[in-house]
Amino acid sequence: MSIHDILNKTEFSKEDIVQLLKLEGEDEKSLLRHSAKIKEENIGNKVYLRGLIEMSNVCAKDCLYCGIRKSNPIDNRYSLEENEVLNAIKFAYDNRYGSVAIQSGEISSTAFTEKINNIIQGSKELSNGEIGITLSCGEQNESTYQKWFDSGAHRYLLRIESSTKELYNKIHPADENHDFEARIEALKVLKKIGYQVGTGVMIGLPFQTLEHLADDLLFMKNSDIDMCGMGPYIEHKETPLYEFKGGLLPLNERFRLTLKMIAILRIMMPDINIAATTALQTIDKIGREKAIQIGANILMPNITPGKYRDSYALYENKPCTDENADDCKSCIDVRVHLVNHEVGYGNWGDSKHYGKKQQNS
Ligand code: 5AD
Ligand code: FES
Repeated sequence: MSIHDILNKTEFSKEDIVQLLKLEGEDEKSLLRHSAKIKEENIGNKVYLRGLIEMSNVCAKDCLYCGIRKSNPIDNRYSLEENEVLNAIKFAYDNRYGSVAIQSGEISSTAFTEKINNIIQGSKELSNGEIGITLSCGEQNESTYQKWFDSGAHRYLLRIESSTKELYNKIHPADENHDFEARIEALKVLKKIGYQVGTGVMIGLPFQTLEHLADDLLFMKNSDIDMCGMGPYIEHKETPLYEFKGGLLPLNERFRLTLKMIAILRIMMPDINIAATTALQTIDKIGREKAIQIGANILMPNITPGKYRDSYALYENKPCTDENADDCKSCIDVRVHLVNHEVGYGNWGDSKHYGKKQQNS
């Protein structure tokens, strides 16, 4: 089947997606042009911001790919104080970012639940209820998720990392703390509570095939997600998966594959929010802008207080770790205009997909 025949279909099969992921040259460009057009028609050219706060690199998990995994003997583990997080949120509010995303290593304790809860309440107070809040704080029990939702968090990101159980189990330790079914269940609970739910995967993992990636996109479609954040896998020396470095795709191939994943997802789910993730920028200085051009509509400028940036190294060569939030702010407009888009300042930029579901229910 020709690429044009596939692109004109209303539903993609797994085989269609694999064929699209293999595209090169002019056909690859046609795919990216098509997804850019679908985006333009469905959600326009606005890019919404989520001021990203990396609250803590203390983590109870031991994911085999991650630089801040529990077993890593990092001496600069940190947790921002409540007031440090609130100051960053104030910065986002004052600069009309519209929303913040609070990301943290996974900790499950009453103290952690309360701390996040205080931050949610505090940020609503300091912004007259105006700042939107996305959480990315891992797997928690239902009552915690509910409590944070009741306090005003309305979006939650929990990446499935890989939707194929066998691959998931190869990149995580085999223990009850890294249970595939528990993660799927957490996504269902978040949706039931009423969050806009986001998930995502890493692209270019050891042992990963195009069939796995096609299944990931079908998983997102079948789970009817509202948001997605996916990015290239970037190996980290101090992690167990590093030993498989030799079998990885070159970084530029992982980058291209990620753009194709974003493009195909945009075609499959025209009205969801898709983030242009930081890992893209690690490989290509204007990687996030390239993603925006072909399908992404969310940018997450890092507003973590500068002195902690270096410590949140999920992978190596993370960009912008030595800058202050102000530095990043000054380049946001320039970067977004570069690809003929506009920043939706002062707006939550909620997932249209979620909005439509609410209207129909
Ligand atoms: N490369 C790319 N992404 C990574 N993450 C963790 N480690 C890496 C890595 N080595 C991503 C995971 C996690 C998110 C917070 O960061 O997908 O969900
Ligand atoms: Fe699981 Fe960092 S330890 S993603």
